[in-house]
Amino acid sequence: MIALITGASSGIGAATARRLAREPGTQLVLVARREERLRALAAELAPTPATILAIDLTDDDAPARIAAHVEQEHGRLDLLVNNAGAAWRGTFGEAGWENVRRHMELNFDAQVRVTEALLALIRRSAPSAIVNVASTAGRVSRARTGAYSASKFALAGWTDALHLEEAVHGVHVGLVLPGFVATEGFPQRQLVDRRLTRWIVSTPEKVAEAIVQAGPGGRAERYVPRPYWLAATARVVLPAAVRRATRGSAPPADL
Ligand SMILES: NC(=O)c1ccc[n+]([C@@H]2O[C@H](COP(=O)([O-])OP(=O)(O)OC[C@H]3O[C@@H](n4cnc5c(N)ncnc54)[C@H](OP(=O)(O)O)[C@@H]3O)[C@@H](O)[C@H]2O)c1
Repeated sequence: MIALITGASSGIGAATARRLAREPGTQLVLVARREERLRALAAELAPTPATILAIDLTDDDAPARIAAHVEQEHGRLDLLVNNAGAAWRGTFGEAGWENVRRHMELNFDAQVRVTEALLALIRRSAPSAIVNVASTAGRVSRARTGAYSASKFALAGWTDALHLEEAVHGVHVGLVLPGFVATEGFPQRQLVDRRLTRWIVSTPEKVAEAIVQAGPGGRAERYVPRPYWLAATARVVLPAAVRRATRGSAPPADL
């Protein structure tokens, strides 16, 4: 299996690379901006072969460079994991459209553009799979994370359609919606530091397992931890209760 993971230099992406490396016959393409991190991870994964591509996914030529690399190195792609993403907190009144724009550029546009550049190759490699890493915030919004939620709602909505469209081409499209996961970019310090809330914070390894289930495993959608689907369901059937429960804003920075 040839698998490409974006955002492989830390957190969920790195855990996914380690998880996939355990599958016999896997060859990995690791994508992110920090070359040293990717190089160290590729070395750690040996004997599983892994090539690296140090690239900013928001660059205009990023999708074409990724497609050229995969064509040249492998000539096929069995699994694309669109995982790279980030969050910058702020109310719309403080951070404005610019904050929405930068979230959309990385968390939505980049995933769509990379998928477009690789889709012909992924179809040629069918049966194959695409996994998009959205968020439970892609089903339920909170104050101060509206721009992040907008990008993840967009990603989740687009993925639902792509799932239906690509099935006829033998390409399975899965969606993973993590809740709170302690990583470099999302330390979840406020939750981790309190005994009362620590238990709701999940691990990158659990998300990596869900990515395998939503990709080669053929699952359409996975929340991590699983009970988070209740939050998404409640948002639809009990909207007033969810609004009351989420009235306390997310903290101003990702503490
Ligand atoms: N952790 C959570 O609580 C949580 C919850 C729900 C969803 N998620 C989603 O899970 C995904 C992974 O997040 P994580 O928690 O693992 O965070 P993380 O540790 O900060 O990892 C983010 C990854 O994205 C890469 N990245 C960021 N900007 C990039 C750019 N412009 N070009 C290329 N790569 C870029 C980073 O690498 P470089 O800095 O080296 O480029 C890094 O490898 C994200 O899509 C996030 O929204 C996370």
